[in-house]
Amino acid sequence: MASGNTHGDANPNVAGGPTGHVPVMLDEVLEALQPTAGEYYIDGTFGAGGYSRAILDRGANLLAIDKDPNAVASSRELLKNYGNRFRFVTGEFGELDAHCKGVEIDGVDGVVLDIGVSSMQIDEAARGFSFQNDGPLDMRMGQTGLSASDVINRSDVKDLTRLIGMLGEERHAGRVSRAIVARRELEPITRTIDLARIVEKTLGRKHSDKIHPATRTFQALRIFVNQELVELAKALFAAERILKTGGRLVVVTFHSLEDRIVKQFFSDRRGDVSGSRHLPQTLNDAPCFIQENRNAIRAGKTEIENNPRARSAKLRWAIRTEHAARKEDFNLFGREVTLSLSSLKTGRV
Ligand SMILES: C[S@@+](CC[C@H](N)C(=O)[O-])C[C@H]1O[C@@H](n2cnc3c(N)ncnc32)[C@H](O)[C@@H]1O
Repeated sequence: MASGNTHGDANPNVAGGPTGHVPVMLDEVLEALQPTAGEYYIDGTFGAGGYSRAILDRGANLLAIDKDPNAVASSRELLKNYGNRFRFVTGEFGELDAHCKGVEIDGVDGVVLDIGVSSMQIDEAARGFSFQNDGPLDMRMGQTGLSASDVINRSDVKDLTRLIGMLGEERHAGRVSRAIVARRELEPITRTIDLARIVEKTLGRKHSDKIHPATRTFQALRIFVNQELVELAKALFAAERILKTGGRLVVVTFHSLEDRIVKQFFSDRRGDVSGSRHLPQTLNDAPCFIQENRNAIRAGKTEIENNPRARSAKLRWAIRTEHAARKEDFNLFGREVTLSLSSLKTGRV
């Protein structure tokens, strides 16, 4: 099941609190990544630069990536303070190896990914991630392409049910989808609050419910609009290609769909048995990663008390071996990773 949150916003995986962005599990990330002066690292999810700043403070060189054009503002302060040890790119972390082209290095010493939404994104109502702060149904981190409103108003009921069921892990996806379609026949659904109310009216809300009934529907839309699962899978393959022997890959995730991808990837790449549900279990080729600790690391009690959003964080890490990177194979993961909606493409509703 997707992890819940008790704050009533749609995104359990937002980092930080309402007044600022607090990096999640920073000490554990640094312990796993071991940034070292003079070495070269990639922070694929710059956000407010919490991890990036800590890596640069250790004297390392850093390429930071974020797909949100607004993140560039926070990168300016780091550029000023760390000069040419720091470079920032607006782009997708799924292409992190391509972003390194032209940099004179013989491989990367560490890659860190902190998957999810930043406090800045969730707190700005106009970005449309939250149903606590009413805003347009947008949810595009990169601010281009299809918005959540496009998906909600242009997909047929079958596709909406698959989307909300698979990416939101919502048991009542059929009921939610039918209610959405019935309502949009009257007028398009364009505000976050409207969608939240439709879901709440359909599923009801008990006093004892820990999360708002629309949480899972919002999660599904956000994941789809930003292609979050396929991007994560691409980033893992790209990191495998670009890390040098002994280089470290550190990933923090906030819900079960993401964590499963990281777990399946490491399980496959450490070369014991295939992590795929669709392939027979076979011995793999030479291991591309060593995993000293196969268990997910969780945030400590004090951090969770200070930042409740750290409650659902899971950190997994592994060390690159000398063996050649394998081919990208999306069959390692569940079908939800490459989910596409045919009705959205054809405009059939
Ligand atoms: C949880 S925040 C990272 C916070 C950061 N670790 C810090 O300490 O400030 C996640 C960030 O990743 C970015 N992001 C999400 N998906 C991305 C992708 N596919 N490519 C690049 N950036 C992405 C989001 O825009 C957001 O700013």
